[in-house]
Amino acid sequence: MCEDEVLKDLIPSEALLMFKRLIGKDIGVACDFLMRHYRDEYWPRRAGVMPPLRRVRSNNVVKLPSPKGVTMTVSNAIIARRSAGDFIDEPISIDDLATMLFLGLGITGWTQAYGFDKYPLRAYPSAGALQPIEAYPVVHNVMGLREGLYHYDPFNHALEILRLGRFNSLMANLALGQDHVSRASVVIVLTAFYSRTRWKYWKRALRYVLLDAGAVMENIYVVATGLGLGVRAVGAFYDEELCRFLGIDCVEEFPVLLMLIGKETRGF
Ligand SMILES: Cc1cc2nc3c(=O)[nH]c(=O)nc-3n(C[C@H](O)[C@H](O)[C@H](O)COP(=O)(O)O)c2cc1C
Repeated sequence: MCEDEVLKDLIPSEALLMFKRLIGKDIGVACDFLMRHYRDEYWPRRAGVMPPLRRVRSNNVVKLPSPKGVTMTVSNAIIARRSAGDFIDEPISIDDLATMLFLGLGITGWTQAYGFDKYPLRAYPSAGALQPIEAYPVVHNVMGLREGLYHYDPFNHALEILRLGRFNSLMANLALGQDHVSRASVVIVLTAFYSRTRWKYWKRALRYVLLDAGAVMENIYVVATGLGLGVRAVGAFYDEELCRFLGIDCVEEFPVLLMLIGKETRGF
């Protein structure tokens, strides 16, 4: 497996020398070095054409209310931000959800880019302004919305209805049985539409979409805190099963993070 003949085509000789030196000491460190080298290769060319920015999942749509103003200062919200221990059985409002989606990843400006006169800019910074992060709210207990799986359309500030039903136990099971997931009023599943970034950044794309998702995560943390809501990121879940539930392929688009939101109880 580590034959020179195989490796010499993959990595330049200095990296190969370093790999060989490391492998005698610690195979984990050596393999990590090799992987890092592979991933960090600069992007030599664009791998296709840019996929459309608007991801339409359903024509069955609920318009969201305008976002609320959040009065807490940014510094106070950052200092107060903590991951919620658990959630009480009380609904949040549709205005709160609309505000978190808009300030988390909504369209906040327009520019000229990629040959478009009117190209959106988002609440989160995004590599190449390619905006790969999609949000799928799984509504358990939100006043003004039926329980079910939705997809956020930032272009119309609306929710597309994908599946109605009560999915809180399913979501907890998908999250490796973490039952606080079932008690959140809403679980916003953040996915990365990988091909939207990959066509331009190739091997850098994975790191970029994950960074973009992290920016959305922090926006939602800070806004939920500013709204007086509990919030917790959850990164542990079964990928394949969650993809099946969302109706995505886990290749072009894959889940990155769950954002649990609700009224918080202490003592987790
Ligand atoms: C990428 C990521 C994955 C996480 N996964 C989980 C998780 O699976 N379950 C959970 O209860 N909390 C999860 N958390 C929340 C962390 O446990 C929490 O942020 C950490 O304990 C620090 O606490 P704080 O957010 O209150 O500062 C995750 C947080 C991040 C950023």
